[in-house]
Amino acid sequence: MAQQKLNRITLATLPTPLEDGDKLSSGSRLWVKRDDLTGLGAGGNKARKLEFLCGDAIQNGAKSLVTVGAAQSNHCRMTAAAGARLGLPTHLVLSGKKPNRLEGNQLLSQMFGATLHHTGLADTNWAGLEEFRTQLTQQLVDRGEKPHSIPIGGSTAIGAVGYALAFDEIIEQCSTQNFTADAIVFTTSSGGTHAGLVAGLARARARDPLAQLPKIIGIGVAKGTALSSRSIKDLANETLTLLNETSRATDDDVVIDPNYMGSDYAVVTQAASDAAKWAAHRGAWVLDAVYSAKGFSGLLGLDAKNEFGSNANVVFIHTGGLPSIFTSH
Ligand SMILES: Cc1ncc(COP(=O)(O)O)c(C=O)c1O
Repeated sequence: MAQQKLNRITLATLPTPLEDGDKLSSGSRLWVKRDDLTGLGAGGNKARKLEFLCGDAIQNGAKSLVTVGAAQSNHCRMTAAAGARLGLPTHLVLSGKKPNRLEGNQLLSQMFGATLHHTGLADTNWAGLEEFRTQLTQQLVDRGEKPHSIPIGGSTAIGAVGYALAFDEIIEQCSTQNFTADAIVFTTSSGGTHAGLVAGLARARARDPLAQLPKIIGIGVAKGTALSSRSIKDLANETLTLLNETSRATDDDVVIDPNYMGSDYAVVTQAASDAAKWAAHRGAWVLDAVYSAKGFSGLLGLDAKNEFGSNANVVFIHTGGLPSIFTSH
């Protein structure tokens, strides 16, 4: 099979800072990787994926972008921001009904000039939302608008390349700051961030089998998206192929902890509210209830169970999510 060429455009401000987050209750040290500060359209993890996804769109001569997500999708808002930067009309397929007044991510998406398609579907009807995206994409093709259609969360192998490179960025920053990371913890939903990090891990291990590399721990926040170790491993391996690497991820590389999700996506948990307060008071880190606070509640929960050991260095990737703080529900 011919090697697919990766096309990257600059959308993010990189590297993002890695901040010393002081001691956790076990005595381990917290580090916060500020991917909420990637810069594109109010920031967040999707900027790293969009550099490759939009690079691919431009390479293919796309004249518009289409993507899909929950009503308050950060991925949709950041795709709208990328569309604005690139001069590409952007269509967003969203769950829920059209609100009387746009808030949070929807308000920003509209400011970036995107067309919002409110489907009336439930937040967790991921299959229905994807079906709507497919139909809309076909309508745009029929109208000659040359859409580049991006699946939920931008979680394809091309998108995940952004997080394989982020893995290297983190390891390099740890080394510059004179420590070795024992674990990298983050929120996982559609799985592209997770798959990219696992690909980065497998590649680093192949380059130096003796290197001390961190455990990658995804805290799951949505049932029915990518909560399967198998699909993350497959996506990581596809990402490695795209990077022209022969190394492979193993089953043990993929750890998804589902214990901090609550009953499902976007359902508020007490642990996440407490984690958001902890982060705001300790480091002025702003975490949202749907994604980053749940991920951080996982980190604090694992630390309380002494899962990292007492003198570990634990990196939390702050994946963003600020705009949904400013919503009324
Ligand atoms: C703020 C935030 N954190 C984490 C994630 C999860 O990333 P992924 O979809 O790559 O698993 C998302 C996805 O939308 C997000 O918006």
